[in-house]
Amino acid sequence: MNNYSPIQFTSSFRNLLYLFSFVLFISCSGSNANTNNESTPLISDGDIEKLLSKNTCTACHKTEQKLIGPSFKDIAAKNYSTERIVELVYKPEPENWPDYSVPMMAMPHVPENELQDIAVWINSLN
Ligand code: HEC
Repeated sequence: MNNYSPIQFTSSFRNLLYLFSFVLFISCSGSNANTNNESTPLISDGDIEKLLSKNTCTACHKTEQKLIGPSFKDIAAKNYSTERIVELVYKPEPENWPDYSVPMMAMPHVPENELQDIAVWINSLN
């Protein structure tokens, strides 16, 4: 009786290789899931609602429908960078939205960290 025939050895070595690459694959996809990019909001729906109403954005904007201003989804469709959205709230450019008769007023009092969170959230709607 020989338990270590060359054929058996080769096939169990191959299984080990499969197992190894599988483990490698799992660990890679695991670390990807944890990295944050621009489209992953760091903030929960409840927190974003508080930020939007505290800063009075919700008086003129809704997520899905146009109100006095465009919906946040329509803004997301413009594919602005986070920095550009922050800039546009501090210094609106009404010419970007010719269909809206009332221009947005500049809102320099909104804290930048809150506006950053809002901007990242807007882009996550895309
Ligand atoms: C008084 C109403 C009003 C309020 C309050 C308001 N907006 Fe607006 N917003 C508008 C209108 C109208 C437009 C489209 C015309 C324009 O840009 O002037 C707009 C456009 C925007 C745009 C697109 C800018 C561009 O040039 O594409 C962003 C981003 C935005 N608003 C974010 C916000 C955020 C965030 C808040 C809260 C901090 C806010 N808005 C508060 C009325 C408002």
